[in-house]
Amino acid sequence: MEREKFSSRLGFILISAGCAIGLGNVWRFPYIVGQYGGAIFVLIYLVFLVLLGLPIMTMEFAVGRASQKSAVKAFEVIEPRKKGWRFIGYFQAMGNYLLMMFYTTVGGWMLSYFVKMIRGDFVGVAPTGVADIFSQSLADPFLQVFWMIVVVILAFTVCSFGLQNGVEKVSKIMMTALLAIIVVLAVRAVTLPGAAEGLKFYLIPSLEPIYKYGLIEVIFAAMGQAFFTLSLGIGAIAIFGSYIDKERRLLGESISVCTLDTFVAFMSGMIIFPACFAFGVNPESGPSLVFITLPSIFNEMWLGQLWGALFFIFMSFAALTTIIAVFENMISFGMDLFGWSRKKAVVVNLIAILVLSLPCALGFNIWNGFNPFGPGTFVQDLEDFLVSYNFLPLGSLAYLIFCTSRYGWGFDYFLTEANTGKGIKFPRWIAVYLKYILPIVIIVIFIQGYWARFF
Ligand code: PHE
Repeated sequence: MEREKFSSRLGFILISAGCAIGLGNVWRFPYIVGQYGGAIFVLIYLVFLVLLGLPIMTMEFAVGRASQKSAVKAFEVIEPRKKGWRFIGYFQAMGNYLLMMFYTTVGGWMLSYFVKMIRGDFVGVAPTGVADIFSQSLADPFLQVFWMIVVVILAFTVCSFGLQNGVEKVSKIMMTALLAIIVVLAVRAVTLPGAAEGLKFYLIPSLEPIYKYGLIEVIFAAMGQAFFTLSLGIGAIAIFGSYIDKERRLLGESISVCTLDTFVAFMSGMIIFPACFAFGVNPESGPSLVFITLPSIFNEMWLGQLWGALFFIFMSFAALTTIIAVFENMISFGMDLFGWSRKKAVVVNLIAILVLSLPCALGFNIWNGFNPFGPGTFVQDLEDFLVSYNFLPLGSLAYLIFCTSRYGWGFDYFLTEANTGKGIKFPRWIAVYLKYILPIVIIVIFIQGYWARFF
């Protein structure tokens, strides 16, 4: 059977951006920035996006396009004689499941906030009351599981329509709408009284956080966030490379995707931090941060209920496009590995994801006695830690080594693939950096980061 293709280049860019742009930008980015002290973290994060995000994204696209397969088969198709790589593909596949185990629950929070906004649940509620509403909903196992199920079913429904009609069409509309609304909200946030303090926290680096957390921990977190936001390391981006033809060089495509992603993350910081300081919310609040600051902004806006509803619905879409992209990857695992039909792969994965998402959804209530990293941390924190600090960096390292070393595909073959077509060329002089410096940087940060965090 011929592999499905995207209908247009724009579709490909937007869908890859749709996979990259998600909760990582609007939920995870602000809360991690808040936890690690603001601007200095943002600066290190931006450096990682360029030095490590761009080349690795190009490698993922290249592996996908050359193999025309998902992560579980890609290495094997390109290098059939080097058998060990196959297991790396399986490891990456696992990363996709682990990511979805908490992502679906947070997607559910977004969707439930859309409904709350429409109902006017926050009208006239003071900022402290807004935080209470969030903790009450976490405490309700029924609500957590219900919204998670809605998200999972929505996303699989889109996937079951196939690549062009489902995934591509829905992504295009949703992503465009999100880009527009986020600008409106940022304008409102930066003009709030007291916004300046927040902008200072977000944009003017200070060394204080480095003393507080230690440089290595801040760097480790920034690296994890860079991988997370660009969806690197588990073949989620590679899969889209497998759906395109050879008309364009791949570096240019990576630049477009990274730029869109960074724009959305940056703008969500421009919304959240001014608002935090204006409403007296602690930026170190953790995963609840956006849910306890945003409703207060909407309360201060003309037609706030409408803006709020629009924001949360588009944000749900952004989460959904990411979930859809990852589901697409999982469906492709089933089809590539076991020769399943799309329908069968959809059904099997649907059931698996529903079950696997339960620990996170129930971790805030029924299982809230499980606190992996101390009081106030739950199943979700553990799952996020495994993904962002382990699967993504190690999986990315695997792509890096595969594309630059003779034990894998090798740099020349990678370069030929990346540079096939028109557009910006991936430079050859960068080989030394990619072969000898970058892998060491990743390994050192990884080991040191573990050390700093646990000892
Ligand atoms: N990049 C996605 C986001 O920002 C998360 C993601 C990570 C998706 C890894 C796929 C793979 O929400």
